Amino acid sequence: MLTLPTLASLLLLAVPRAVYADPCVSFDVDFNLLAFGFNGKDYNAGKQDSWTSGSATDITASGRPPFDGANTTCYLAQFFNAVYVLNGDKANPSDIYIYDAAKKSWSTQKTTTGNFDPSDFKTILDHDTNVFYAISHGEMYSLDMGEKTAAQSDALSWEDVQTTPYGNDYDPVMALAQNHIHFIGVPNVPAGSADIFVIHFSFFQPQSQSYGGATFPASHGETASFFQSEGVQQEFAFIPDDGSMTYVINVENNSTSTLAGPTSKDPKAQYAASITALVQLDSTGAVSFIPYTQGDASTNSAAKWASVAALPAVAPASSGSASATGASATGASAAGTAPAGTRLPASSTASGSGSSSTGGAAAGSNGAFANAANFGGLASALLAALAFLQ
Ligand SMILES: *[C@@H]1O[C@H](CO)[C@@H](O)[C@H](O)[C@H]1NC(C)=O
Ligand SMILES: *[C@@H]1O[C@H](CO)[C@@H](O)[C@H](O)[C@H]1NC(C)=O
Ligand SMILES: *[C@@H]1O[C@H](CO)[C@@H](O)[C@H](O)[C@H]1NC(C)=O
Repeated sequence: MLTLPTLASLLLLAVPRAVYADPCVSFDVDFNLLAFGFNGKDYNAGKQDSWTSGSATDITASGRPPFDGANTTCYLAQFFNAVYVLNGDKANPSDIYIYDAAKKSWSTQKTTTGNFDPSDFKTILDHDTNVFYAISHGEMYSLDMGEKTAAQSDALSWEDVQTTPYGNDYDPVMALAQNHIHFIGVPNVPAGSADIFVIHFSFFQPQSQSYGGATFPASHGETASFFQSEGVQQEFAFIPDDGSMTYVINVENNSTSTLAGPTSKDPKAQYAASITALVQLDSTGAVSFIPYTQGDASTNSAAKWASVAALPAVAPASSGSASATGASATGASAAGTAPAGTRLPASSTASGSGSSSTGGAAAGSNGAFANAANFGGLASALLAALAFLQ
């Protein structure tokens, strides 16, 4: 396995006007954490027990999306060990890139969008049917991925399912569990309740469903469904935009429990869940996770968020152009730390000299890169420090 300790150098990158590309995180069927579009590369960060101290494997392969767009999202098709990437290619926003996690290969599925707007939607991938259900401008659409681990030559179609009862102004917060899509923050639906779309009957249930226990707010937020080792999801996490708490909604017994809110309070963060962890990718590219054990409230209430240090790290860019004032790959600096992965400016250019680091504390811990940057003054804009694998 290729490990970060084999790195040759850190490069300091000057950052002109930042145009960010969005990475995404997902899993393969063994729940290795896959991180796509991190500084032009894709990584397998391994299983959960190695996320805080292990190393990430470069899995960058040809045919991948450029990851140069905004709002990139990715979804594991658990039955097929495939990851579907939406909005991964700015020039071709309706393309769906398919990553065959077993073969480590990519293909590009063309779609026809009809009235579906690929620049403005929310979607879930239904576990059992492998159909995307998306809401865009108050309308529900579906796209059937069949059993795909690779693209077919004919385009797939986004089909218009029906108009939602929620109105055009509702910014969808949708989560999948038990073949139902749950909608939080629907107008006039109280905190602690969700509206439901029953996939198998293509039916918007007229009554809201309430969930006992902790009361989640009727607000906008992000979601991720926890997988089961087999079968459909039964629980999903809901993280309101303020990041104050993580709610876990169980749709078997209609209850709500809580986990700590993420350390990074970021309304633009994305989330992915395995069976035993919730992972956050924030808008600076930092990846962190909280362990989760279904049915074990006391373990869950004590669980803490931790950084996924196994991913290569680069410093976040802020604005303006930057000049190097130095970077050191020492393990534990508190201030000026760089996250463990970054939405890199698309147009960054290298300046400044690399420092090579092949042993000792810096290279010995992959977490070192997560703490790599310590910049001079407030005035100097942030740099991206790029860890190269070899
Ligand atoms: C990204 O999402 C935001 C919010 O939905 C939307 O306003 C914007 O147009 C999207 N950008 C692209 C390039 O799809
Ligand atoms: C939970 O909610 C679902 C959806 O409304 C409902 O079908 C189910 O009967 C409820 N389960 C329990 C145990 O109340
Ligand atoms: C609902 O089921 C979950 C998962 O097994 C469990 O953690 C929770 O305690 C249950 N809640 C209630 C109210 O029975």
